Amino acid sequence: MIEPATAARDSYDLVVVGSGIAGLYAAIQAREFGASVLVVTKGDIHEASTRHAQGGIAAAVGPGDSPAAHLADTIEAGAGLVDEEAARILCFEAADRIKDLVRYGVHFDTTNGEVALGREAAHSASRILHARGDGTGLEIELSLSSLAQREVTILEHTQANRIVVEDGRAAGIETFTTTTGERRRFGAGRVVLATGGAGQMYRTTTNPVVSTGDGAALAYASGAEVQDMEFTQFHPTALVLPGRPVFLISEAVRGEGARLFATDGRRFMPDYDPERAELAPRDVVARAAHAEMTRTGSDHVLLDITDRDEAWLAARFPQIYATCREAGLDMARDRIPVSPAAHYTMGGVRTNTWGETTVPGLFAVGETACTGVHGANRLASNSLLETVVFAHRTVERLYRQSTPAPALERSRDHLHLSPARGNGGPPTVQAVRDLMWRSVGIIRDAEGLRAAAEQLTRWSAVLPEPLDRAGYELRSILVCGRMAAEAALAREESRGAHYRTDFPEPRESWRRHLVFRAAEGVA
Ligand code: FAD
Ligand code: SIN
Repeated sequence: MIEPATAARDSYDLVVVGSGIAGLYAAIQAREFGASVLVVTKGDIHEASTRHAQGGIAAAVGPGDSPAAHLADTIEAGAGLVDEEAARILCFEAADRIKDLVRYGVHFDTTNGEVALGREAAHSASRILHARGDGTGLEIELSLSSLAQREVTILEHTQANRIVVEDGRAAGIETFTTTTGERRRFGAGRVVLATGGAGQMYRTTTNPVVSTGDGAALAYASGAEVQDMEFTQFHPTALVLPGRPVFLISEAVRGEGARLFATDGRRFMPDYDPERAELAPRDVVARAAHAEMTRTGSDHVLLDITDRDEAWLAARFPQIYATCREAGLDMARDRIPVSPAAHYTMGGVRTNTWGETTVPGLFAVGETACTGVHGANRLASNSLLETVVFAHRTVERLYRQSTPAPALERSRDHLHLSPARGNGGPPTVQAVRDLMWRSVGIIRDAEGLRAAAEQLTRWSAVLPEPLDRAGYELRSILVCGRMAAEAALAREESRGAHYRTDFPEPRESWRRHLVFRAAEGVA
């Protein structure tokens, strides 16, 4: 039930931070084992990337498809950095987790009584389950939140701003209630971070305002390791119009045959990827769109699905169709102006395949975690899947006695953030986001990355102690931005979503992860 903060107890078996798919699913499953569970979430219960997910959730459940084929596609997209054991688990446990979602009330779309399967880029088969057409995330969020509200205690507008660590173990969290300013401490045997991604580091993003990288920043401050932060996925087709929120035009639209044109009328994707064209991996399409925008001097390219009629489009993509309509665009007649936007944080809190971080008692699930399944570039619709596969395993690890207990060893070869040093005025969140977009964005080079890393370090030195939600979020964005800039500067190659003009090819010596851990005593 959603409770006022004052009604909550001081301690629980499990505290979950975040009310997207990862947090709610973990909370519901922990309740099934009889644990007392508190979920805190900094907005209202529905504010999360999850509710915006459009394309769907990948699972090899269709005829002729197999988990092995799904695994091969995942590894191929991840550009040499996928953890193959984790990815195998992802693909082979997918069907069981889909069954859980159905058990929790999620209705996937069907055609003639069979589950309808969409196609998305770099998948070798149609394997994307969807709901409400392009409203998969909304269906999942509403189903899980209605169940969770009956099963666990939920505090809305309650932001976790510190992980309490006692004797080297996570022992609870400190929170700030954004509506009243109240501060509290909740003790817990275990803490699960499910805080989503860090897309708000960037000026242009498909992510909601809550996606400020709090999980990675809090984990780093608690001594946990954070990995792969140089890998942010840029989605090629966002509708970015002045005065309107950035809105994703799902890859599923290209899966249904939409083609991309430059503003001078040239269909460009076959020149960049002759075989896969518009269904090439996301990083390839995003860079191609960026290059075509630069070539034509335009701030967008055009997505064309005008060979489908209005009725079909409105049924298959109801949200996208309606949003375009509100913006004065008719998908059945008009080419839609689209451009790349930061979309998904591949990096995050380093975990093993049981959700364990390097701090005992602290777990991370969902987009805030880095399980290694996405490597340098996530395959479309593998994110929702990752949240449930690894949230399930985390809860199994916690409450089913028979599960093995492999400790996640701390990395021997880790980085610390450069010490915050400098002077000048404190940053605004907009200044940080602009800098990240300009210099740590789709196309990078040493000069821009070095200047960005230095500026972010200077800003960190003069950041005032946070007093409210905006202050804590700015702190998180700065920590994540510094990790992204410093790792991107160190990684002298191009791989997956990380592209440097001064090192345009992958290098075998860089087939490894960059891991950050705070120096002892430094948060
Ligand atoms: P979220 O759903 O983002 O939830 C995070 C929660 O943590 C929120 O409730 C937030 O308020 C809370 N929180 C954050 N910080 C704090 C704090 N300090 N204290 C308390 N609470 C906090 N993936 C797919 O697989 N398929 C898709 O079709 C797809 N489409 C997408 C479309 C869009 C527009 C976007 C943005 C993403 C899409 N993704 C898709 C990615 C996918 O939606 C996300 O990766 C996934 O929903 C993440 O779930 P999560 O539970 O980890 O995080
Ligand atoms: C989309 O629908 O294009 C987004 C899918 C994803 O991010 O996995």
